[in-house]
Amino acid sequence: MTVAGLTLTNPVMPASGCFGPELAPLIPLERLGALVTKTVFAEKRSGNPAHRLTETSNGMLNSVGIPSPGSDAFRDGLLRRYQQAGPPLIVSVGGLFTEEYYAVTEALAGEEIAAFEVNVSCPNLEHGGLAIGTSPPMIETVVSGVRARTDKPLLIKLTPSVNSIAEVAKAAEYAGADAVTVCNSFTGMRIDARTRRPVLGNGVGGLTGPAIKPLALRLVHEAAQAVRIPVVGCGGINTAEDVAEFLIAGATAVQVGTATFTRPYAMVEIIDDLARLCRELGVSQASELTGTLAPSLTPGRS
Ligand SMILES: Cc1cc2nc3c(=O)[nH]c(=O)nc-3n(C[C@H](O)[C@H](O)[C@H](O)COP(=O)(O)O)c2cc1C
Repeated sequence: MTVAGLTLTNPVMPASGCFGPELAPLIPLERLGALVTKTVFAEKRSGNPAHRLTETSNGMLNSVGIPSPGSDAFRDGLLRRYQQAGPPLIVSVGGLFTEEYYAVTEALAGEEIAAFEVNVSCPNLEHGGLAIGTSPPMIETVVSGVRARTDKPLLIKLTPSVNSIAEVAKAAEYAGADAVTVCNSFTGMRIDARTRRPVLGNGVGGLTGPAIKPLALRLVHEAAQAVRIPVVGCGGINTAEDVAEFLIAGATAVQVGTATFTRPYAMVEIIDDLARLCRELGVSQASELTGTLAPSLTPGRS
C-alpha cells in the first residue's frame, strides 16, 4: 500500500513519542508499516518538571514536554539507530518558532529518511504560546517553508484543539502537505483533592489512550471528507477492530501510541489480528476499508 508516496507493508505505525529504538529487542520492528520518531527540535530541550505521566479512567495524561537532543545530536546518534530498524522512517519535526521547523528540516533533509511528520501542535513562542496548529495561516507558513526545504513527503500532525479540523487540514493540503495525521493529544488535567494541587508538574497535560478514540475518530472522518490527501488516524487505537473503524472513517493508515506503554507487543498483535479481521469483513486487504462508512440507519418516525 502507499501513503503519501511511501510504500508500506501494512497500515500500522507507532505514534511519535511512544516508541524508541530501545524497543527493538522486544518487537520485530520489520513487521511495522513505518517508524515515527519522537519530535525533534533544533535545540536541546529537557522537557517539563515531574510528575510527567499519570493514569486517568481509560487513558493517560502526560506532560513530558518533548525533550529533544537537538537536531545535530539526533542526526549523529538516535537517527542511526532508527535507520537500522528497517521500515520506512518518518522523522517528526518540531519548533517553538517558525524558523526552528525550517532549521530541523534543513539539518535532516539530506539524510536517509522516508518522510517528515511536521508536528504543528507545539506552542509557538512568536504567538504567545498558542499552538501553530490552531491557526490556518500559521500552518500554511510552517508547511510551505518546510516544503521549500525538502522534496521528501510531508505528513502534518494536527492538534484536536480546533473549532474546525477541516479548515486546518485544508490549510496543510494547500501549503503542500502529502498527508495529515489526525490527531495529537487532547489537553486535560488531574487534581489531587487532598493537596488541591495538579497531579502533573506542568499543571496540564495531553490526554491519550482509549478515552480519546471516539473523539479522534470523529475528527478523522471530518478531515477525510475535507481533503484529497490521505489521513493518518491516531488516538486511542488498541485493537485491530479500532484500526478498522479508523480506516472505515476515512484513514489510509494509523498510528498506535499509548497502547504500546501497557503492551509493548500491541502493534504486532494488531497487525496479525487485522489480517484475520479483513478476512472476516470480506476484504482482501485493509486498504479496501478506507472511506467505506455506510449511512446511519435512521429510525423511521412514527
Ligand atoms: C508520552 C507521550 C509522548 C508523546 N510525544 C509526542 C511527540 O514527541 N510528538 C508528537 O507529535 N506526539 C507525541 N505524543 C502524542 C502521540 O503521538 C499521539 O498523538 C497520542 O498519544 C494519541 O494517540 P494514542 O491515544 O494512541 O496514544 C506523545 C504521547 C505520549 C503519550
